[in-house]
Amino acid sequence: MEKSPFYEGKAKRLFRAANNLILQEFKNSATAFNGQKKAEIEGKAEVNATMSAMIFQYLEDAEIKTHLVDFIPPRSHLIQQLKMIPLEVVVRNYAAGSYLKRAISKEGEKIRPPALEFFYKDDSLGDPMMDEAEILAKQIADASDMAELKKQALKINDVLTQMFSQVGLQLVDFKLEFGKNSEGQIVLADEISPDTCRLWNQESGEKLDKDRFRFDLGNLMDGYQEIFSRLKTIIQWKERR
Ligand SMILES: Nc1ncnc2c1ncn2[C@@H]1O[C@H](COP(=O)(O)OP(=O)(O)OP(=O)(O)O)[C@@H](O)[C@H]1O
Ligand SMILES: [Mg+2]
Repeated sequence: MEKSPFYEGKAKRLFRAANNLILQEFKNSATAFNGQKKAEIEGKAEVNATMSAMIFQYLEDAEIKTHLVDFIPPRSHLIQQLKMIPLEVVVRNYAAGSYLKRAISKEGEKIRPPALEFFYKDDSLGDPMMDEAEILAKQIADASDMAELKKQALKINDVLTQMFSQVGLQLVDFKLEFGKNSEGQIVLADEISPDTCRLWNQESGEKLDKDRFRFDLGNLMDGYQEIFSRLKTIIQWKERR
């Protein structure tokens, strides 16, 4: 199977696999600010691939459709090939990150109801924020797709907020990507990991996610390992090697 990837992004490599499936291999690279800041971080691929598979399995158990077919240790997922919707769907429960530049809230202020934002995936434009009218006008998604994206994003938010809070973690915000399967159903794709979520220690407020790398707040892997070890206490997970 392992030839050369048909796509290499900043965080993952995609290889064609049998039966119209894709092997999605996680990389050790960490990037921020649209690729301006970069580093190779030993062990990140394995930990993120494992956590993302655990989270997708948890979501499947909550009846959310995901692209995950199987976890292939140590750092790959076998996934369904989807026709990707080129949007990043961001859910925010507490004010942080780029939201602070646009909103009147202070960092950590609760956002209720949660904010839902859409960004058009285009690196050359810097993934600009896009409102629903423009998404519809440009036919990036239609009205029924948009309703479904919002419904799924909010349901995923409920499930993940509750999951992380069980292990003392505050889900501040996160990014999702979706695609359509051969039946036209909208399915959760890509990854969910501390690269794509802000997670704070509920007790101390310590930031455990990629902001450690973005803003040099401390060793990245220490934060990721903390999240990983807490998740293992609530998600049944056997390393299948
Ligand atoms: N089930 C899927 N089917 C097809 N493509 C997928 C699926 N899940 C994720 N992808 C795509 O695979 C790529 C994963 O690579 P990676 O996350 O490294 O990309 P990236 O550097 O973030 O760049 P970009 O996401 O802008 O393409 C993304 O383009 C993502 O949209
Ligand atoms: Mg990506």
